[in-house]
Amino acid sequence: MTKRRIGILTGGGDAPGLNAVIRAVVKRGAGQLGWDIIGSEDSFNGFLMRPQRLFELTPRSCQGLLHRGGTILGTTNRGDPFAWPESDGGARDRSAELAAAIRSAALEGLIVIGGDGTQRIAARLMREHGIKVVGVPKTIDNDLTATDFTFGFWSAVEVATEALDRLHTTAESHDRVMILEVMGRTAGWIALYAGVAGGADCIALPELPYDPERFCEKIRARRARGRQFSLIVVAEGARPKGRERSSGTVKHGRGSIRAGGAGQTLARALAERLDVETRVTVLGHLQRGGGPIPFDRVLATQFGVEATALVERGAWGRMVRVAGGVIGSVAMEQAAVEPRLVDPGHPLIATARAVGIELGA
Ligand code: F6P
Repeated sequence: MTKRRIGILTGGGDAPGLNAVIRAVVKRGAGQLGWDIIGSEDSFNGFLMRPQRLFELTPRSCQGLLHRGGTILGTTNRGDPFAWPESDGGARDRSAELAAAIRSAALEGLIVIGGDGTQRIAARLMREHGIKVVGVPKTIDNDLTATDFTFGFWSAVEVATEALDRLHTTAESHDRVMILEVMGRTAGWIALYAGVAGGADCIALPELPYDPERFCEKIRARRARGRQFSLIVVAEGARPKGRERSSGTVKHGRGSIRAGGAGQTLARALAERLDVETRVTVLGHLQRGGGPIPFDRVLATQFGVEATALVERGAWGRMVRVAGGVIGSVAMEQAAVEPRLVDPGHPLIATARAVGIELGA
């Protein structure tokens, strides 16, 4: 039997745990099953670059990866091979060229680690060009419908919670309102979990456009009780009622949006209504950088091993997932659907309200 040769790549924004997945695939695939594992640099781009950027991954070259943040393969959230951006602002379909490059690298198929955009590209490559793929979901936003959790999410929540703990002490010392802006353009999971974990007084989510007056009421009530400071968590996609988005939001690339200004927008709304000193901290990519916490190391390892098992069984076209605590998989076509947003009826929303957190709506 010929030796199996499998490609692997990471696409979209990075997330703590990507390297742990790569390590697990290489340990199992190359170390135990004797496969050749070929990494493509910067998502699918490694196949399209001249010269190509493909390199073999071995258990030795993947040593020390479990706790390392980022991705040794590099990644990008630009450069869809089906709509490759051209210098004149147009786009060109390079998917056939990509499929030919994957075949000429003698790869049986690819393990594609990425978010919804990357998984959609992978599913399309399989559907339109017959390239075999297995997906591994990732996003710190935790907004993929097909899986209960993605690795990286809890690491991001940990960073955001620590930031809140730190803001807490300085807010208290100075009698200030501290606003922490966290990631989440359309889904407010990081804001919700970190807000509950860090004892926020108010949380603003993209899914619940807020009335600033409700936040002001909460702050006034706290002050009336002698609590002169308040902590607010704002997801970057949060916005006041009646507004489509925050002032600093800009278009970035083809159809995607870079959120910005949610914290400042809320700070201005508070300043118009309250005599209180407010400071805004934008946590930004600190939430994505750095190594994964133990939960994410374990989940990433489980995902990597499961992806390898799918390849071993020839179960192409499936994406790894965790559902009800059980690691398994789902058809990729079924997985690449609308993002999972925070439902106003979610039990954690009820918990937040029950401990007095104001959600602005
Ligand atoms: O999708 C993950 C995410 O972290 C979003 O929460 C955030 O808006 C976006 O990526 C930022 O991406 P970039 O790396 O392009 O700034």
